Amino acid sequence: MGQPVNVGVVGCGAISAQYFQTIERLPRLRLAAVADLDLDRAREAVRPYAGVDVLGVAELLADPRIDVVLNLTIPAAHAEIALRAIDAGKDVYCEKPLAAARTDAERVLLAADAAGVRVGCAPDTVLGTGTQTARKAIDDGLIGRPVAATATMMTPGHERWHPNPDFYYVPGGGPLLDMGPYYITSLVTLLGPVATVVGAASRPRAKRTIGSGPRQGEEIPVTVDTHVTGVLVHASGALSTLVMSFDGVATKSPHIEVHGESGSLVVPNPNHFDGDVLLSAAGDADWRPLPESAGYLGAGRGVGLADFAATPAGTEPRAGGALAFHVLDIMESLLASAHSGAGVPITSTCERPLPVPLQDA
Ligand SMILES: NC(=O)c1ccc[n+]([C@@H]2O[C@H](COP(=O)([O-])OP(=O)(O)OC[C@H]3O[C@@H](n4cnc5c(N)ncnc54)[C@H](O)[C@@H]3O)[C@@H](O)[C@H]2O)c1
Repeated sequence: MGQPVNVGVVGCGAISAQYFQTIERLPRLRLAAVADLDLDRAREAVRPYAGVDVLGVAELLADPRIDVVLNLTIPAAHAEIALRAIDAGKDVYCEKPLAAARTDAERVLLAADAAGVRVGCAPDTVLGTGTQTARKAIDDGLIGRPVAATATMMTPGHERWHPNPDFYYVPGGGPLLDMGPYYITSLVTLLGPVATVVGAASRPRAKRTIGSGPRQGEEIPVTVDTHVTGVLVHASGALSTLVMSFDGVATKSPHIEVHGESGSLVVPNPNHFDGDVLLSAAGDADWRPLPESAGYLGAGRGVGLADFAATPAGTEPRAGGALAFHVLDIMESLLASAHSGAGVPITSTCERPLPVPLQDA
């Protein structure tokens, strides 16, 4: 397998612990150094791990030992950190969304091309057994020709539990840019790229109240749409209907359903790696679970980075920049459509990412 890839992490907030746990157990990756604007937070985050350097951001980016920069900053900082990493000649793998705005993401991909480095991006949850088993069922023809899908995400908002939820309510956040990457990446994995979108959105509350941590009770402003709906017209002709909301209390709708001419599938939560895939084929009296047949088993956040590190030069990584850009393009276009009232053609496209054969993470 050769030497492990040295990972330098920028951003040691809420999600970083999950990455550190995964990196620690994957032999292909080595957690070499971390950085954050808040150095105490960085020190605290890697306290359980031996031999990890805590550096300033510029120092980490300039460190010749670092092979890939894992960008776990807030969405508004994704492009800046990615561009600085690329400028330092490093591959970069970013948390979602690829950038807070499509124009910034475009600059990242162009800079990476010019520098001859690679860009990867979360979510990697869709490389787990949930979405991958559903994809294999579709590819094996278990539902016939896919014609439609629904995707529903409904929560009251992350300010209930996140101690610093400000970024969820500014551009780059909102239910669509925050949770849409999971659902839309799964839909593109299942049904292929999207050609046109039609959207509608609303913003019922101007303020949100932080529900936990030292800032509990503080009100924060809302400057993005918090209930976003739309239709994605896939290039194949299949239609996906999307509801992404921070304005509901709960839902019993499946996270994703895919309907084909001869069967329907329930696809598990694309924010999780696993979960039951259910099939109801024409003539069946009920749903039946499908055995896990594809995807990384026992995966955690960071498995997409290991997959990225293992992807040969010249092959687009599964959790790659082109897919992440297409997903961001779809999301921005949905919001543009919601505000203009007109359908918006999607100018970007991507290949369906390569399927993941069933294997241990
Ligand atoms: N929290 C979750 O459950 C979760 C889940 C999946 C994905 N994500 C994604 O992970 C990313 C980070 O989310 P989080 O919840 O960990 O946020 P967070 O606010 O808890 O942590 C972000 C960290 O990045 C640091 N940071 C910000 N700008 C920086 C800069 N320019 N240079 C260096 N450090 C900088 C902050 O100081 C902070 O420590 C986001 O893109 C989010 O969408 C979060």
